[in-house]
Amino acid sequence: MYAPPLIQILLFSLLYSGSAMSGLVKSETEDFIDWWQHTVFYQIYPRSFKDSNGDGIGDLQGITSKLPYLAETGITAAWLSPIFQSPMVDFGYDISDYKQIQPEYGTMQDFEELIDTAYGLGIKIVLDFVPNHSSDQHEWFKKSAAKEPGFEDFYVWQDGILQENGTRLPPNNWQSVFYGSAWEWHEARQQFYLHQFTKEQPDLNFRNPKVVQAMDDVILFWLNKGVAGFRIDAVNHLFEDESLRDEPLSGKTQDPLSYDYSKHIYTKDLPEVLEMIQHWRRLLDDFSSKHPERPTRIMMTEAYAGISKLADYYEDHDGVRGSHLPFNFHFITDVKGDADARDFVYNVEKWLIYMPRGHAANWVMGNHDNPRVASRFGASSVDAMNMLLLTLPGVAVTYNGEELGMEDYRDISWQDTVDPPARNVGKKLYKEVSRDPERTPFQWSNEVNAGFSTAPKTWLPVHPNYPELNLEAQKAANKSHYSVYKDLIELRHSAIMRLGRFNIEPISRSVFAFKRSYPNFETIITIINVSDREQLVDLSEFVNRPKKLVVEVSGVDSKYEEGDRIPVDEASKLNLPPGGGIVLSERSSAVMSQQRRNLVKQLIQSANVVLVGLLVYNLWRHKWTKVNFNQHQF
Ligand code: GLC
Repeated sequence: MYAPPLIQILLFSLLYSGSAMSGLVKSETEDFIDWWQHTVFYQIYPRSFKDSNGDGIGDLQGITSKLPYLAETGITAAWLSPIFQSPMVDFGYDISDYKQIQPEYGTMQDFEELIDTAYGLGIKIVLDFVPNHSSDQHEWFKKSAAKEPGFEDFYVWQDGILQENGTRLPPNNWQSVFYGSAWEWHEARQQFYLHQFTKEQPDLNFRNPKVVQAMDDVILFWLNKGVAGFRIDAVNHLFEDESLRDEPLSGKTQDPLSYDYSKHIYTKDLPEVLEMIQHWRRLLDDFSSKHPERPTRIMMTEAYAGISKLADYYEDHDGVRGSHLPFNFHFITDVKGDADARDFVYNVEKWLIYMPRGHAANWVMGNHDNPRVASRFGASSVDAMNMLLLTLPGVAVTYNGEELGMEDYRDISWQDTVDPPARNVGKKLYKEVSRDPERTPFQWSNEVNAGFSTAPKTWLPVHPNYPELNLEAQKAANKSHYSVYKDLIELRHSAIMRLGRFNIEPISRSVFAFKRSYPNFETIITIINVSDREQLVDLSEFVNRPKKLVVEVSGVDSKYEEGDRIPVDEASKLNLPPGGGIVLSERSSAVMSQQRRNLVKQLIQSANVVLVGLLVYNLWRHKWTKVNFNQHQF
């Protein structure tokens, strides 16, 4: 498309001054990009983030004290794992009061201060919402067990199978995700109750409209406190087959207590799940339109489900909208440590192909339930995986500590192990399933307990590598995983990263590359080596026109520095270290380094002021001439 030079200058200045447009930028499709469509959601695991009172457990005041860290990193949205009252059997995912703060985390006042401080720093707070199950210590469960009127069917109760000898068996072969039968006998009520997770997490009965109502009430309670939305936990477990049919065997394992023993066709992904998601979407949209003073309230949904199901969460066949962001876990579940470049490309494309048009892609690189990036892909891949995450189109989800390349602490002893599924499988197998290794305290500094807490003992041990691997050290270093992460976030502010078209290709089995481009403007190119060998990459085919590329962001092991120029021809090959990546820019005219970006932005803003001034002056002159002319006529 040809644009006259003046128009080009104006377009260029608009693209670069995007932040001045109240966070809304017009896209090619004429839609507006809302805040949540191109943000980085930073997941905070409150128990392990920062302890403010020396009890060895992270808390709300600790989080508030670290909000400036988020702001200086460039994070504008944080998702907090559960902070509600809980007996902590599943570390907050077993809630005994949905409207109270867990006392060891602080008070409601602490929460309000957290929200206010966050908004003051431009950070939106998203809470974890756990609808599938409560704690068995919740009033609702106690009342339900006692068959109190109105609460009888709040949970999923069943008689089970009475045997001739008078004993009872669970109603069917359903297993808990965390090992063992999904049914627990309740002595007082003389019935079994369903629990898809631990037995202390009874499943709420979403076929009961009173439960739906009670949960809507919880959502509204926190919306009224000013949260920007929710991450909805285990959403695809909400409904089960009403006729309680046995699930067919998977053939994967001989252990009937293992969750892998059967195919979960009657306990997961039932069609009713979608209806509930759509119901919550209406609730959020309604609240957003009634309270426009704060940005759009959103939901992100956690479901380890098939891609076509997740695509329906975005929007179903009839165009009914559901989850703003159905979590895309493919970098965790489908791209394993030994994946080659084609696997990465395939999984990225797969999401974009299935996602209905007009929605925001999202990429989750880690969370509190899965091994960390450094442990999945190797420590040398940390920067490359952050480059991938942060330069793909759409939303990025970072689990706290991934910006430093924190590693799993896999050697936690059986005595120190607290994760319920790990405790359930026993001393021999616990290391294979434990989630404790990725939940160890955040490594702030080389002080005692990595600066996380002053307590003699922390709730989980601190990773022993903290004296070398910590934020303070990475801030002091010339270049570090943290500085790379920060540069990538800075790069995301460029309009190309929000609006740029996307194209990805495997260059070989070891290397893949993708581009973000926009006609007549810079192109951003990310190149990633997923092998454990150094790679020399000929970019001439991928880049098309032989011209110079400039390094925007390079990893800690890279030969290149930011601002270096890289010639593109067959003779000059790009060097990528094992597991390394690089982000380059290709510009049509003047080449600008990352450091010069701000300067140019300022210059453009000043130029805009001058241009507007000239325009006003011209208009004024024009009017004056016209008035004179008119006067002359009469
Ligand atoms: C989700 C949470 C996980 C929790 C489970 C049960 O998968 O992420 O931590 O144990 O739900 O609530």
